[in-house]
Amino acid sequence: MAVIEAVVDRNLALELVRVTEAAALAASRWMGKGKKNEADGAAVEAMRKAFDTVAISGTVKIGEGEMDEAPMLFIGEKVGSGGPQMDIAVDPLEGTTLTAKGGPNAMAVVALAEQGNFLHAPDIYMEKIAVGGGLPEDVVGLGVPVLENLRNLAQAKRCAVSDLVACILDRDRHKELIAKCREAGARIMLISDGDVAGVLAVSQPESGVDIYLGSGGAPEGVLAAAALRCIGGQMQGQLLYEDDSQVARAREMGLIDPHKIFRVDEMAKGDVMFAATGVTTGAMLKGVRRFGHGAMTHSVVMRSKSGTVRYIEAHHNFSTKTWAAH
Ligand code: FBP
Repeated sequence: MAVIEAVVDRNLALELVRVTEAAALAASRWMGKGKKNEADGAAVEAMRKAFDTVAISGTVKIGEGEMDEAPMLFIGEKVGSGGPQMDIAVDPLEGTTLTAKGGPNAMAVVALAEQGNFLHAPDIYMEKIAVGGGLPEDVVGLGVPVLENLRNLAQAKRCAVSDLVACILDRDRHKELIAKCREAGARIMLISDGDVAGVLAVSQPESGVDIYLGSGGAPEGVLAAAALRCIGGQMQGQLLYEDDSQVARAREMGLIDPHKIFRVDEMAKGDVMFAATGVTTGAMLKGVRRFGHGAMTHSVVMRSKSGTVRYIEAHHNFSTKTWAAH
């Protein structure tokens, strides 16, 4: 029985890629067309449809919004063709503006865990800090001054602060953070969007990024944490509230301490599976490449239990896969 379960689990991790492939293929038709909502809508619809063939009884925990604001993949929606009870975190198109402008690092993202294992993060901002694997625990942290974090990280990496690269979303709200990093002597990679890829860059030595800093979407934070659980790396996240109604909403969603600083394994617990397919080419994934009667996709699938990270290059033939052709 245990063997059968293990096989089902393993297949499930690979099944997830079909879901992100479908979303990425659909979104890629809108690349560079300046229409981010259309790109997002196409990805959502394709991902929702693809879930129908995945053998799970899934509940969307991180999705496209509340039931009354999102037609599909809303929080609480049931998806899957039946099977083990699983919680799902999705971002069918992470980087809607990136896709609309043909910029780098847009991708379709999904994570899966057993029930109750994802942080129920409302769609608000989250303050984030992340570093790669193999470093002393809590080498950096939220609430610690930027200079101290950078010095501690440099010491742990046996380099100078000036050798470090910090990845930060290019936003006015990060002006002070950027100034402090520059003052400390660190180098900076400013990104226009896509902080899931930004956070994941810390775990990919070839990206050259040593630390991720700044605020971005809380749902994206949970998805990034799910991936870091699989590939290694530290991250802390703290929800940022604009008013009391947001705090109340977080409490309603089950957060006992809405101001808590969450670590990776508090945002994504247990055995986590994660899949992403590139829409546009970025540091980790190649974007969708279309040709005459088909397209190629590049995806990553990983699982925390085994720690295996697989890259999958798929050739899709539109003469047999009519849903992907248009
Ligand atoms: P979308 O794909 O929803 O457009 O999100 C892109 C993104 O850059 C995320 O990666 C990030 O978490 C968030 O937007 C940051 O929000 P804001 O643009 O409001 O700073």
